[in-house]
Amino acid sequence: MALANLLQLLIFSCLIVVGASVASQALPDCSDKCGNLSIPYPFGMTPECYLNENFLITCNYSTSPPQPQLMQSDIVVTDITLEGQLEILNYVARDCYNANGTRRDRNLPQLRASMFTISNVKNKLTAVGCDTKANIWAEREGSKSTYFTGCMSYCEKRDLLVLNGSCSGIGCCQVSIPSGVKNLNISITSYYNHTYVWDFNPCSYAFVADETKFTFNNKSFDELANIESLPLVLDWAIGNEPCKVAEHKSDYACKQNSTCLDPENRPGYICKCKDGYYGNPYHPNGCQDINECKNSSLHNCISERNCFNTPANYTCFCSEGFHGDGRKNGTGCMRNEVNIIKISIAFSLCVLVVIVGSSWLFFINKKRKLLNMKKKFFRQNGGLLLQQELHEREASTETILDEKVANERAVEQIKEVAKLAKRCLSIKGEERPSMKEVAQELEDLRKLTCQHPWAEVSVNIEETQFLLGQASSVSTYVSN
Ligand SMILES: *[C@@H]1O[C@H](CO)[C@@H](O)[C@H](O)[C@H]1NC(C)=O
Ligand SMILES: *[C@@H]1O[C@H](CO)[C@@H](O)[C@H](O)[C@H]1NC(C)=O
Ligand SMILES: *[C@@H]1O[C@H](CO)[C@@H](O)[C@H](O)[C@H]1NC(C)=O
Ligand SMILES: *[C@@H]1O[C@H](CO)[C@@H](O)[C@H](O)[C@H]1NC(C)=O
Ligand SMILES: *[C@@H]1O[C@H](CO)[C@@H](O)[C@H](O)[C@H]1NC(C)=O
Ligand SMILES: *[C@@H]1O[C@H](CO)[C@@H](O)[C@H](O)[C@H]1NC(C)=O
Ligand SMILES: *[C@@H]1O[C@H](CO)[C@@H](O)[C@H](O)[C@H]1NC(C)=O
Ligand SMILES: *[C@@H]1O[C@H](CO)[C@@H](O)[C@H](O)[C@H]1NC(C)=O
Ligand SMILES: *[C@@H]1O[C@H](CO)[C@@H](O)[C@H](O)[C@H]1NC(C)=O
Ligand SMILES: *[C@@H]1O[C@H](CO)[C@@H](O)[C@H](O)[C@H]1NC(C)=O
Ligand SMILES: *[C@@H]1O[C@H](CO)[C@@H](O)[C@H](O)[C@H]1NC(C)=O
Repeated sequence: MALANLLQLLIFSCLIVVGASVASQALPDCSDKCGNLSIPYPFGMTPECYLNENFLITCNYSTSPPQPQLMQSDIVVTDITLEGQLEILNYVARDCYNANGTRRDRNLPQLRASMFTISNVKNKLTAVGCDTKANIWAEREGSKSTYFTGCMSYCEKRDLLVLNGSCSGIGCCQVSIPSGVKNLNISITSYYNHTYVWDFNPCSYAFVADETKFTFNNKSFDELANIESLPLVLDWAIGNEPCKVAEHKSDYACKQNSTCLDPENRPGYICKCKDGYYGNPYHPNGCQDINECKNSSLHNCISERNCFNTPANYTCFCSEGFHGDGRKNGTGCMRNEVNIIKISIAFSLCVLVVIVGSSWLFFINKKRKLLNMKKKFFRQNGGLLLQQELHEREASTETILDEKVANERAVEQIKEVAKLAKRCLSIKGEERPSMKEVAQELEDLRKLTCQHPWAEVSVNIEETQFLLGQASSVSTYVSN
């Protein structure tokens, strides 16, 4: 039971962490979805969730999926950006005729969205047809007078084969709209009630829409018959005052780590997260620090591991044992030179150890083989028998010696002589005694051991003295 509880707690806390990391664009306790549309603050669906009534989104739950609508209107909202734009669906105006030139169908919608202006950057008035005149008239922001514009297009069927993919005046015409356009009226008329083009073009169409969402081609006449609305971009802003005035007011909408911007084509202001931050500048704590290190296109450090995120920025660094600025277009990171020396020394030592070790093993092996071979030959040639016999004889020799050389001193003297002889045979010059030394030592021995049989060996004193006097030059030469 306790384990199960613990597990539940763990899962729950994990969920909390996950939930917290995906920052909502709406205010706390506010729904930020209506159908497919996510609704960021300052927009909202209930009074405590929007900034003011201009930012009300009404969610129409009688459709499936639910339909977000602008304020109290029936204008469908398809997108809201925090850069101050709003995409809505705008009806296409049409004017259709019968073959005998009488009007069959006409629809001239008006756009009423006075809280917002129609984006002059993104939208254009487009008219499609071969017997077509389209006009719009509207109020402009800050002007009481009516503004009026339009375009016309007349063509015959063979012209359509010439122009495809561009709205250039044949079958399609387009005009820009000025900034600050609000409530919009549209009208369509024809020259000849489509009587000369009726077989391929019975209708004229006109709309103000996002320029990128409509491309004219020779199928457009047919397709537009089934298109009720096209996307149009509205600009939104907060209030009617520029930043300079607004930022001193209590209802200033730009929150932490954001700045204020005055849009060019409309009154009011919009907010933007400062460089290095992302998120919703209208939302308290909405602007979050961008972790540039996580996105290789945002930092120019040689790798993510060499990048350190700081508020609004990042720094590049090199890990221990390296130096440099860590930047792709800078010096990068280079291995410290001390390390190169250390590493190369260690490496060469390793190599040396391996070489010495292996050759040592090789010789040991060879030696062992030789020894084995010797033993083998020894056995083969009856060596064992010989050894046995020798062993027996040795024992008897020792007894004889024991009897003959009775006193220890004699043994000592034999050893001394043997040592002397060995030195004389020494290969190295400096160890070999000079003739003079030999003579001297022999003389000393003789004096000490008068009772020994060797003492009777007659020593020519003159010869000894000659050697003691003369051999020094030889000794000097050898020791040099
Ligand atoms: C809503 O999303 C679904 C699936 O993503 C899509 O098929 C549908 O067209 C979207 N509806 C609108 C109105 O955008
Ligand atoms: C909700 O949508 C339905 C179907 O499109 C429409 O008939 C109705 O008028 C809408 N309600 C509102 C309040 O706009
Ligand atoms: C024109 O044609 C339509 C349908 O084809 C018809 O209803 C109408 O009566 C005609 N009008 C005239 C004046 O012929
Ligand atoms: C064109 O249509 C309009 C509206 O239906 C009508 O008043 C006009 O007489 C028609 N003109 C011709 C030439 O048919
Ligand atoms: C658009 O038309 C409506 C009614 O047809 C009218 O009340 C309004 O003043 C017109 N708008 C402009 C800008 O002329
Ligand atoms: C005209 O445009 C349509 C749609 O883009 C394309 O399918 C067609 O091949 C084009 N025709 C010519 C002649 O370019
Ligand atoms: C569009 O143009 C192409 C090539 O010119 C032609 O083959 C096609 O039939 C045209 N389509 C229509 C609907 O006119
Ligand atoms: C961004 O906001 C945080 C608080 O959310 C604050 O601590 C930090 O100083 C701000 N950074 C800048 C650059 O204003
Ligand atoms: C990285 O940053 C670029 C530029 O801002 C952006 O287009 C891209 O979506 C980002 N990639 C990721 C995975 O966040
Ligand atoms: C970020 O830091 C780099 C140096 O690391 C500096 O050149 C750059 O101007 C900084 N950017 C910002 C927005 O502060
Ligand atoms: C490296 O590139 C960044 C921008 O990618 C630039 O700001 C910086 O000045 C460049 N540094 C050098 C040393 O070229």
